Amino acid sequence: MSQRIPLIAGNWKMHKTGTQAVEAVHQLKHLVASAANVEIMVAPPFTALFQVGNALKNSNITLGAQNLYWEPQGAFTGEISAEMLMDAGCRYVIIGHSERRQYFGETDETVNKKIKAALAAQLIPVFCVGELESERDAENTFSVLDKQIRDGLNNVGFNGKPHIVIAYEPVWAIGTGKSATREQAQEVHLFIRELLKKQYGHEFSSLVRILYGGSVNPGNIKSLMEMPDVDGALVGGASLVPETFGKLVFYND
Ligand code: PGA
Repeated sequence: MSQRIPLIAGNWKMHKTGTQAVEAVHQLKHLVASAANVEIMVAPPFTALFQVGNALKNSNITLGAQNLYWEPQGAFTGEISAEMLMDAGCRYVIIGHSERRQYFGETDETVNKKIKAALAAQLIPVFCVGELESERDAENTFSVLDKQIRDGLNNVGFNGKPHIVIAYEPVWAIGTGKSATREQAQEVHLFIRELLKKQYGHEFSSLVRILYGGSVNPGNIKSLMEMPDVDGALVGGASLVPETFGKLVFYND
């Protein structure tokens, strides 16, 4: 049996004001209060982090952010540091989401700096990787992922501790209603785990959780989670409604 506790994570993207986010987590807290052997995370927008962090105290839901900047402080108008996220109560931070890469010019190099900054502040990066549809069609999926992971983790040390979560999110599956099949997900997750094994050793790679993301919903989560290397889900659209998110948390019922 795997020692990896499944992580079901909601990425709320640019949805919900602080008030709306707090209302949603109040509902979610009740819905998932009895959830066992699963970790739950929500990542609201920056403006809602503090309020949501307070609302989640003494609950079984952890807080994540959707992005950070790598410098600790300074004249970087509009940016947010790792220390600020820690102060707001975050444990996780999503890094390198495909929307950040696509619309905000993030590269493997900036992702690498962000991962280092998160780790230095004891935040756990949820490091997103994934191929475009054209890259899959050209049979470049594995080479694309190989580069994203090697460059994203360039000179990143973990001292043996699995302080990172990888999220495999095929770009063609995000927000499209067209999830990867569980076989496609498993194949890539295994590839990622083997890559981590080569770089960081067997124990580390066997402890790191690899989430699948891209059109996860209550109808497909169980089948995805049955695959041996799928350790959770990073969920966008279906995480916005507490009842639906609750169903994802209880995927095994
Ligand atoms: P989706 O988004 O679940 O709406 O496809 C996933 C994500 O972007 O993390």
